[in-house]
Amino acid sequence: MAGSRLGRPTWDGGRSSGDSPGDRFEDEGEEASAVNAKGDADRTAGVDGEARGTGGASGRVRYDHTGSVVLVTGGTRGLGAGIAGAFLAAGAEVVVCARRKPEPLPEGLTFVTADVRDAADVDRLVAEVEERYGRLDTVVNNAGGSPQALLAGTSPRLHARIVELNLIAPLLVAQRAHPLLATSGGSVIMIGSSSGTRPSPGTSAYGAAKAGLHHLAACLAAEWAPRVRVNTVVVGLAETEDSADHYGGPAGVARMGAAVPAGRMARPADVAEVCLWLAVPGYVTGAEILVHGGGEIPAWRRIASGHDG
Ligand SMILES: NC(=O)c1ccc[n+]([C@@H]2O[C@H](COP(=O)([O-])OP(=O)(O)OC[C@H]3O[C@@H](n4cnc5c(N)ncnc54)[C@H](OP(=O)(O)O)[C@@H]3O)[C@@H](O)[C@H]2O)c1
Repeated sequence: MAGSRLGRPTWDGGRSSGDSPGDRFEDEGEEASAVNAKGDADRTAGVDGEARGTGGASGRVRYDHTGSVVLVTGGTRGLGAGIAGAFLAAGAEVVVCARRKPEPLPEGLTFVTADVRDAADVDRLVAEVEERYGRLDTVVNNAGGSPQALLAGTSPRLHARIVELNLIAPLLVAQRAHPLLATSGGSVIMIGSSSGTRPSPGTSAYGAAKAGLHHLAACLAAEWAPRVRVNTVVVGLAETEDSADHYGGPAGVARMGAAVPAGRMARPADVAEVCLWLAVPGYVTGAEILVHGGGEIPAWRRIASGHDG
């Protein structure tokens, strides 16, 4: 029935192993982990009643998104794969898109080849979701990123491509998905970045595009309320399968983690958990949820402590 959807949080009072489904999806090899994640979701119903009263600080909330359809752009790697795996584990039908199909495709996911910068591709993507499932409840605009390059010497074409991927593409996907989301009473989740909230030397166009994305989400939240909610998850330093290469090996990853008050970078499961919550129907719209472990320890702390080399 149009307008009806599920998305129930349940309290798993200290019974989970600590890692969320998104972590398992990332860590154990995509195919096997998708199967495990599905199995866990099936078991949750049995565990919940018993666990409800146990509470405990280490408990996690488990979400039931059975009956809902979720589109995760760029859901084949990195944070997007974690988000897609978490929704799959929560019982949703999950469609991921990217320019290249992953091999093997994790079991349970539907894949559509699409470049989100291309309006015709986005139209075909949304049409395929509608044709296959007849509804769409949540769009996670995750595809994004940028190479590191100081502005001097970079080409106008590169700047345009970065802004296109990180700002125009999520706008297009949200716009084209809006009719389906309005029917289901669904929501859009933008994956933003701390780079859009503080100076981002070396990724200036990216930082500016992400700042624009955060603002776009707030505008759409106001434009589409109350039927469709639009929120942003502002991700800080994050650890994905590319991090070791990016930061010069495990020691570099550990050094980056030490720069975060939480003591480590965000993992895909941390971001996925917030997406699972935002996708539950509710009052929150136009919000920016910071998933940055407390931010980055400011340089003055190091200087004031006399440890600045
Ligand atoms: N990793 C971090 O440290 C970090 C921190 C803050 C925010 N973020 C944000 O989190 C999101 C995910 O980052 P990530 O590091 O997980 O990215 P990633 O590992 O580079 O994965 C990007 C995903 O997007 C897809 N993609 C890229 N360009 C696309 C296009 N034009 N059309 C369709 N799909 C496309 C990629 O697949 P194909 O290449 O096959 O298309 C891939 O599935 C991004 O929005 C990023 O800005 C990341």
